Amino acid sequence: MTRKLFVTTALPYANAAFHIGHMMEYIQADIWVRFQRMQAEGDGLREVHFVGADDTHGTPIMIAAEKEGITPQEFVAKIAAGRPQYLDGFHIAFDNWYSTDSPENVELSQGIYRKLRDAGLIQTKTVDRFFDPVKGMFLADRNIKGECPKCHAKDQYGDNCEVCGAAYQPTDLVNPYSVFTNATPILKPSEQYFFKLSDPRCFEFLRDWLNTPGRLQPEMVNKVSEWLGEAGEKLADWDISRDAPYFGIPIPDAPNKYFYVWLDAPVGYLASLKNYCGKKGLDYDALLADPGTEQIHFIGKDIVSFHLLFWPAMLQFAKHPTIDRMKVAVHGHLTVNNEKMSKSRGTGISPLRYLNLGMNPEWLRYYLAYKLNSRVEDLDFTGDDFVARVNSDLIGKFVNIASRCAGFIAKKFDGKLAPSLSASSQEWIRKALLAEDGSERQASIGANFESREFGKALREIMEIADVANRFVDENKPWILAKDETKVAELHDVCTAALILFRQLTILLSPVLPGVAANVRTFLNDAAYTWADTSVASGAAWEPMLGRTIGAYSHLMTRVDAKMIEDLFDAPAQQAAAAPAPAAVAAEAAPALEAPAAGDIEELAPEISIDDFSKIDLRIARIVNCEHVEGAGKLLRLTLDVGEGRYRNVFSGIKSMYKPEDLVGKLTVMVANLAPRKMKFGVSEGMVLAASAKDEKANPGIYVLNPWPGAEPGMRVR
Ligand code: 2FM
Ligand code: ZN
Repeated sequence: MTRKLFVTTALPYANAAFHIGHMMEYIQADIWVRFQRMQAEGDGLREVHFVGADDTHGTPIMIAAEKEGITPQEFVAKIAAGRPQYLDGFHIAFDNWYSTDSPENVELSQGIYRKLRDAGLIQTKTVDRFFDPVKGMFLADRNIKGECPKCHAKDQYGDNCEVCGAAYQPTDLVNPYSVFTNATPILKPSEQYFFKLSDPRCFEFLRDWLNTPGRLQPEMVNKVSEWLGEAGEKLADWDISRDAPYFGIPIPDAPNKYFYVWLDAPVGYLASLKNYCGKKGLDYDALLADPGTEQIHFIGKDIVSFHLLFWPAMLQFAKHPTIDRMKVAVHGHLTVNNEKMSKSRGTGISPLRYLNLGMNPEWLRYYLAYKLNSRVEDLDFTGDDFVARVNSDLIGKFVNIASRCAGFIAKKFDGKLAPSLSASSQEWIRKALLAEDGSERQASIGANFESREFGKALREIMEIADVANRFVDENKPWILAKDETKVAELHDVCTAALILFRQLTILLSPVLPGVAANVRTFLNDAAYTWADTSVASGAAWEPMLGRTIGAYSHLMTRVDAKMIEDLFDAPAQQAAAAPAPAAVAAEAAPALEAPAAGDIEELAPEISIDDFSKIDLRIARIVNCEHVEGAGKLLRLTLDVGEGRYRNVFSGIKSMYKPEDLVGKLTVMVANLAPRKMKFGVSEGMVLAASAKDEKANPGIYVLNPWPGAEPGMRVR
């Protein structure tokens, strides 16, 4: 069956410019889409429809527009006008960018609602809601502030306290007030429309849908299954209505009621596809009904409940044709130096500043792809790591091949590649492109792109680059060029090197589309497909033999580390007002007094450095972590220490950590500890953790976590 892919990314709220987290998600989806577009399918290439849109409705946008004295539509249009510079700037090739404030979305949202109502899944209930008596409108939780009922911090939002982290209802706030008028909100009864997620049909459907193999990452299946409860008892009805005034889509047959923004936002995926189909002359209904069509949503981990509970249930009971062929790819968040991005700390990265600094968008695409995998893990951007990765891989390994060989083809051979290859060069090409078992590396690289294991795909591509560089190093074209008798050899070596360079370009083209386009011009090539990397069919080199190529011009420059300093947002005012930490330290150092002694465990007897070096401490990545049945204190960790195998380690840290909090994190382990047979299996090492002398006073066990830059397998000395 021919696969047809309908791919989306989460629709951004139309109240702000894109931030770097948006770009990370779009780049991830764009790489996947570009890989798919290179696949042969039926008579041509795979059909992919990649669409996005602005998420326009809701109170915040309505209020923001009001503040500017413009209509919400004008406000949203201004934001939409700013989108292309980011999308084009980072080579993100949506087929369509649309809006949830559109006729298609009105029709589709209302149509889905009517079907849910016909299925008996809509219910009205009268509930008390906060109302601003001065503004004459109902208030969302975030429109109400007051004193936290737990810690009594002032000016906290109606849903949670930013000081102590407590979650509560707006009715729990002490002295609540409306953020619009400062008036004290009053409780007013209002008839609300609910989607009956508590209906047993929803539970039965969701349980099976979530557990369909291949639909979701396993960690997501586990997480969302917990939200269902054993028999659906945890599923609560969902309020899908908001009272006028509200910028949204009217609920049919319900005067003055609008759909809550999260009802019509995901329908916006369909609206954008429908709008696109209209522009392209495609049959929207036929496309969705086609059994080969898959619907794939890329989203962040913060909006999982909407996409894995409400959205599939809505689609199922509205009889949406692709519900059984829908997948959701969840990613973690982007952190900077392992911290959540924050403007006030100066760790925010503006995508536009990145571009305006003249930084190459494909550096970022490569770096992010190198760090991405298929798990729901946060991805960390570290300046030094970024510079090192890009300069080492893209410049040192990839571009370097062409820049060392292309000039000789132009100067000595009139731009013409050799008509045939020596046996030795053919052997090198096979060595680079075939795995040890003789299989084509394009297959495993392709499988990794398909499963969103981009980091693994790029590491394998760099292994090919390593072989290609060894080939150039060993054959030394710059020496051959000095010897008139070695002309044919020079021609052969440079041709083979450029063939390998072309192969690397094709394999990297989902990640580096701009470079790939320039290489195509340089090599006089047509559009690349995955089949062009096949050694077995000869496609990997035959088309190049005897071909005249264009002049080589520089494809990419190195990252200048100074650019990174300019990349980050300046710390916000309040941070700037405080003395910089370095200045404090410099002044304080001479006057430092010995700190008071704590109640710490007595130090162990002194050892020599030789004693210490007997203990082999290694950085380990926790690739999996789970509870151990019957063990009160233990967690079972699966650790990667870079050895090409996983280790099983039991650790008594269950009281402190949830398994999902540890997965993906780095830690330190004793790697040469003799394996220990335990009741639950063999433990192959020990994870390091700190604990207090007086475990009653402080029962905490704190697992060690290295600073950014450490990698699995590094020795700790
Ligand atoms: O969290 C957000 O930014 C939402 N605007 C995402 C919506 S995704 C989809 F449902 F439209
Ligand atoms: Zn609080």
